[in-house]
Amino acid sequence: MPDAPSVHSLALSRAGSEPVSVTMTLSSSVVLVTGASSGIGAALARELAACGATVAVAARRTELMQELGAASIHRVDLSDPAHALQLADEVLATHGRVDVLVNNAGVRIDAPVTEIALEDLDRSFQVNALSPLMLACALLPGMRERGAGVIANVVAPQVSGGRRGMAAYAASKAALESLTQTLRQEAAGIGVFGFDPGWVRTDLAPDGPDEPQAAAQRLIVHLEAGRGSREILS
Ligand SMILES: NC(=O)c1ccc[n+]([C@@H]2O[C@H](COP(=O)([O-])OP(=O)(O)OC[C@H]3O[C@@H](n4cnc5c(N)ncnc54)[C@H](OP(=O)(O)O)[C@@H]3O)[C@@H](O)[C@H]2O)c1
Repeated sequence: MPDAPSVHSLALSRAGSEPVSVTMTLSSSVVLVTGASSGIGAALARELAACGATVAVAARRTELMQELGAASIHRVDLSDPAHALQLADEVLATHGRVDVLVNNAGVRIDAPVTEIALEDLDRSFQVNALSPLMLACALLPGMRERGAGVIANVVAPQVSGGRRGMAAYAASKAALESLTQTLRQEAAGIGVFGFDPGWVRTDLAPDGPDEPQAAAQRLIVHLEAGRGSREILS
């Protein structure tokens, strides 16, 4: 953790008025990052911790999250949205609040649409769409009470219109995009947006040309802005 307060800040807007800059330094923010055991989530958690944020990280492989500088590490299997609710309770019990939620965890199961196993389709929707929604539902009331908060959902607009061989991933990411847009309209005063990381070299996309750290740094810029003018930011 740096000695000096972070220069990063979150500008938050309020409902029914001009965007008001409620400056909240990242160093005084509690940020929950799901899917922080690898790829973009791990890079994001590391960057946020370096900014001085109080970072709660969550995934199944807790052993991979020990070196991120996180304030708390949570084991969770988001293929069951009930576990997402338990995670929210656990993080609230640990830190008292969550100012920023980054729904980053994602699973990509490749199969043609006619061959996808129902259980894989189910898991894709649970991890990629329903658990993110459950986390948002659990954490939004606290954000509303405080009149401040940011929810970023990591989306994949390159595939969400449908992609050969990626039926489950594409459809579940399309659902996440739709939920993000509805939440954005309903969550007045709270910053909600989808983040498109581009094509990043990770376990999920081994051929990606971009580094996870670059995507993480772009996302931090959007978190600082609090609420983008568009629904999906990249
Ligand atoms: N890489 C790209 O080019 C790209 C492009 C567009 C969007 N995205 C999105 O970016 C996000 C991060 O993906 P990534 O590329 O960084 O891939 P990654 O390295 O494979 O990371 C995926 C993360 O999701 C977690 N996860 C998967 N299933 C889970 C489950 N059942 N419960 C809890 N956590 C689970 C994994 O943790 P555990 O396995 O430890 O649970 C891991 O930390 C995903 O939402 C992905 O769809 C990536």
